[in-house]
Amino acid sequence: MTNRTFTMIKPDATEKGYTGAILAQINAAGFRIAAMKMLHISKEKAGEFYAVHKERPFYGELVDFMSRGPITAAILEKENAVEDFRKLIGATNPANAGEGTIRKLYAASVGENAIHGSDSNENAAIEGDFFFSKLEQF
Ligand code: RTP
Ligand code: MG
Repeated sequence: MTNRTFTMIKPDATEKGYTGAILAQINAAGFRIAAMKMLHISKEKAGEFYAVHKERPFYGELVDFMSRGPITAAILEKENAVEDFRKLIGATNPANAGEGTIRKLYAASVGENAIHGSDSNENAAIEGDFFFSKLEQF
């Protein structure tokens, strides 16, 4: 499944009512939705998802943020999905994100940056399976 990536519309974007606009932009960029659900994850689940950042100074803040309200999780399909989706969302810090990118348009800060995108094919598969059973991936 190398043509797939995984995304989450984060709690800040959900709170601000940006979910529909972000999904429209993702569709317009040529991604097919292969799985999608809206859910509110626990601190424990958020901590597990971002376990790779456990030793980073922002880990506690990140876990609190990601568990404070609903997210929309999705698996997206497109040729070169991982790389093209990272381009579509822009830099981690919205101040450095290119014009027209999702983070430039909708993110407020490096911590609350509206959307997640997998950073490799391997992680895309791991992250998709973290949220969706095989029966939920189309
Ligand atoms: P993501 O995994 O969410 O797509 O973001 P990313 O690859 O662009 O950035 P990454 O380095 O993986 O960081 C994961 C998330 O942690 C938060 N963060 N806060 N306060 C800070 O300095 C800081 N740095 C990172 C962001 O929510 C970032 O997306
Ligand atoms: Mg990352």
